[in-house]
Amino acid sequence: MIELNFSHMMEEVIGSRGLSERIIEDLRDRAKEVHKQIGDRLLPELAFIDLISQDTSEIKRIAREIRRGAESFLILGIGGSALGPRAILEALSPFHNLQKIPKIFIYDNVDPRTLKQILALTDLKTTSVNVISKSGSTAETAAAFMILWDEMKKVPCSDISKRFIATTDPEKGNLRKIVNEEGLKSLAIPQGVGGRYSVLSPVGLLLSEVIGIDADELLMGARDIQKKCSDQELWKNPAYLFGTLLYLMDREKHRTIDVMMAYADGLKPFTEWFCQLWAESLGKQGRGLTPYPSIGSTDQHSQLQLWIDGTQDKVLIFIRVNDYSVDIQLPDIFQNMEGLSYLSGHTLSELIKAEEEATELALAKAGRPNMTITVPQIDAYHMGQLFHFLELATAFTGLLYEINPFNQPGVEEGKNLTYGMMGKKGFEEKRKEVEDHREKKARWRI
Ligand code: PA5
Repeated sequence: MIELNFSHMMEEVIGSRGLSERIIEDLRDRAKEVHKQIGDRLLPELAFIDLISQDTSEIKRIAREIRRGAESFLILGIGGSALGPRAILEALSPFHNLQKIPKIFIYDNVDPRTLKQILALTDLKTTSVNVISKSGSTAETAAAFMILWDEMKKVPCSDISKRFIATTDPEKGNLRKIVNEEGLKSLAIPQGVGGRYSVLSPVGLLLSEVIGIDADELLMGARDIQKKCSDQELWKNPAYLFGTLLYLMDREKHRTIDVMMAYADGLKPFTEWFCQLWAESLGKQGRGLTPYPSIGSTDQHSQLQLWIDGTQDKVLIFIRVNDYSVDIQLPDIFQNMEGLSYLSGHTLSELIKAEEEATELALAKAGRPNMTITVPQIDAYHMGQLFHFLELATAFTGLLYEINPFNQPGVEEGKNLTYGMMGKKGFEEKRKEVEDHREKKARWRI
């Protein structure tokens, strides 16, 4: 089971920049209220909690078909529809494309260079495309889908409907309409489950099965952590404590950046997944800590100086791995060089764990708050725990802030201005606004 250690958040350990037990205690009743809101499914989007008991048989069936027939599996999606699959891929099947078939490509932008390269690297005759969009109307995903659809049509003897799997809303949206009209295979993202809370829905689970990772293991992990995080008592609930500690660091200590630093290369996309979850859920009404993704020990040599000695505005969240499953011993060579010989006989996992522990302590000694999530192993079961734990903690934190952690009103204006520029009907005013603004933008240039 994953474990949260928050000793380095506490005043008793790191001094006045830490939190007192009393201040946490003051939020106990509020946590109980939020617990009730979660239990009552106050907002329909809390449906993500129920994903943990879904039936995966249809996902497994479609994945088997893909594995049998495809040499490449291409995901089209953006935001929550891509970050979760990428986190699963890199954590559970690192260097996948150098070793395994089907090769996996995740196109989560509209950069033409990337798509050109993907098209050059794949043979569409043997490619399955998984287009993922909850709303079915996201411009970037729609654009990529239209291109792939058109390209796929040019492939001789290709039964186009068989080459696409749409993962989308069960009833609504353009993508669902296309599924119905063209007879595409499809998987449903359950009602209420929004993009950034969807990794444990068919959004992440289909990819998981395609790369040979049992989706039920991910869900079993999520179910077990759900049990551990079901207590209304703040002191006994790690997800609620995680959220409360960061909330208090923001509110009471004016720390407005939370860095997630994972000591495993394969968890880099996972830290990016967390950053999207946290930022889009909590960055509202002038509130919210800014999340920042990081990898240890690598970033000790690029960022740590700032975190330990720079502006007093950050909280570090370490992800520590107990057992890396493999290890490499350092050879007994260069014995006459003191600067190297101390390493001999140790292993790489000893070194990376020492680096992590040392960094925690160095920060704590400098009065810099940090906490650690320890993961026994990077496998499907524990990844399921991590995903669900952080989703629960994020939803809890949003409710603690009294904001809606499931919407994203701030991104609408940019979308509308884009629609205007791309000529979408009804957005003519927005186009004019962009054009008028170009004059202002033209003035201060060198
Ligand atoms: O978390 C979210 O809701 C967003 O990041 C969405 O995932 C993203 O905007 C893509 O939306 P959709 O899945 O509807 O295409």
